[in-house]
Amino acid sequence: MNVFSIKDIYSNKVKINSIINIFGWIKSKRDSKIGISFIDIFDGSCIHNLQIIAKSNLKNYYLEIIKLNSGCSVHVNGILILSKKGNQKYELLLKKIKVFGIIKDPDTYPISLKKHTFEYLRSFAHLRPRTKFFNSISRIRNSLFHGLNNFLIKNDFFWVPTPIITGLNTEGSGSMFNVCIKNDNYICKKNNSFSNAFLTVSGQLTLETYSSALSKVYTFGPIFRAENSNTTRHLSEFWMLEVEASFLNLKKIISIAKFILRHSIKYVIKKCALDIEFLEKYLNKNIFYNLDNILELSFIEIEYKDAIKILNRNKKNICFGQDISSDQEKYIVNKYFNKPVIIKNFPKKLKAFYMRNNDDDVTVASMDVFLPGIGEVIGGSQREERLHILDKKFNEFGLSKRKYWWYRDLRKYGTVLHSGFGIGFERLLCYITGLENIKDASPFPRTMNKFSF
Ligand code: 4AD
Ligand code: MG
Repeated sequence: MNVFSIKDIYSNKVKINSIINIFGWIKSKRDSKIGISFIDIFDGSCIHNLQIIAKSNLKNYYLEIIKLNSGCSVHVNGILILSKKGNQKYELLLKKIKVFGIIKDPDTYPISLKKHTFEYLRSFAHLRPRTKFFNSISRIRNSLFHGLNNFLIKNDFFWVPTPIITGLNTEGSGSMFNVCIKNDNYICKKNNSFSNAFLTVSGQLTLETYSSALSKVYTFGPIFRAENSNTTRHLSEFWMLEVEASFLNLKKIISIAKFILRHSIKYVIKKCALDIEFLEKYLNKNIFYNLDNILELSFIEIEYKDAIKILNRNKKNICFGQDISSDQEKYIVNKYFNKPVIIKNFPKKLKAFYMRNNDDDVTVASMDVFLPGIGEVIGGSQREERLHILDKKFNEFGLSKRKYWWYRDLRKYGTVLHSGFGIGFERLLCYITGLENIKDASPFPRTMNKFSF
């Protein structure tokens, strides 16, 4: 059987006038008065629909075809021709159609053709990928995943799967999800061997063990943070790409962060330019302008102390040592610069214990990458490789150094200068697609008390 995808057709892999088979779902159907139906089908392979021309002399025209509607699943067989009219390039002259799944009561189909709000679609997360919008988002998400991996493969980073169940809080603070054992509907939190097990907030510390042996490594997986914040940028479960490299300082790791962003965005544009064009029109946003900023590496790099100066000069009062609030951050990134911004060398008290103390003993060799609209997309640093200073930090942060014994071992036995960062995958996806709410970047978003599906 000559089976193709719609993408095959649009990439000229199918000869005109050949008889082919396509599987997909009906997007829309229009019946003309002269006994012809125009059926648009999609199969998810690319942004295009394929227009099917069904004539009334087909066997099941009046019995079946005329009754089809948006959402039905079908197998069509016909002759591929070039379209003479309309927006589409190709058409399929239908010879046979097999209907897999009909929709008995189209009025109850939640994803009807009309424009729905994002909020409405979130409550139909199982059907929203069938909308043209989320169909596009899904393809871009896939390409972004490949693009990020592709950069790391090309640059000889080794992939390491780091654990999801852990006894340690990598960031040293923040709420973690507890792992419980569920037995016959009885949840035993205490007195079981998992009572001190949590879901990971970052794979970094375990990743550092591998950068201390393979030099350049990465991990890419789900991250869980029990934050009680219902914002447009926070999820309880999200994906993070973490990169760690020995013998590289803060400056070098910042450069890698910029290059991985550039490479993955180039990759996405190459694979999904039409999807992005569609999102640009749909959202009425200049997405390509945002992407160009990264392609051209137009990042603003400033010190934390200079960010404080900018804020104070513009009446956004803040003292050195205070955390930059989300409003202040938005001011700097969206208003003041309106470009990607990297803020470096935060005060050590604001950052995790593992970041390397600078010579001033006040700041750490840290960096956060902020992108207009979505805010912090990357967090990273040079790591504290000196055991005596790390031990001092454990004390300062009130962390038990015993618990981190193996992490200390890395400093005891052949320690090296090393650095790394983590990219928030859904946040980067928001930037690339123009999405304003991170809940729409995750196929099945999990936030506090929301884990249906
Ligand atoms: O800045 P974070 O907390 O850094 C770390 O966890 C480091 N251990 C990473 C490393 O150096 N290996 O998180 C990294 C990124 C943030 O910049 C943000 O983009 C994203 O992860 N992120 C979230 N994304 C969605 N929902 C949340 N609740 C997030 N928290 C962080
Ligand atoms: Mg951070």
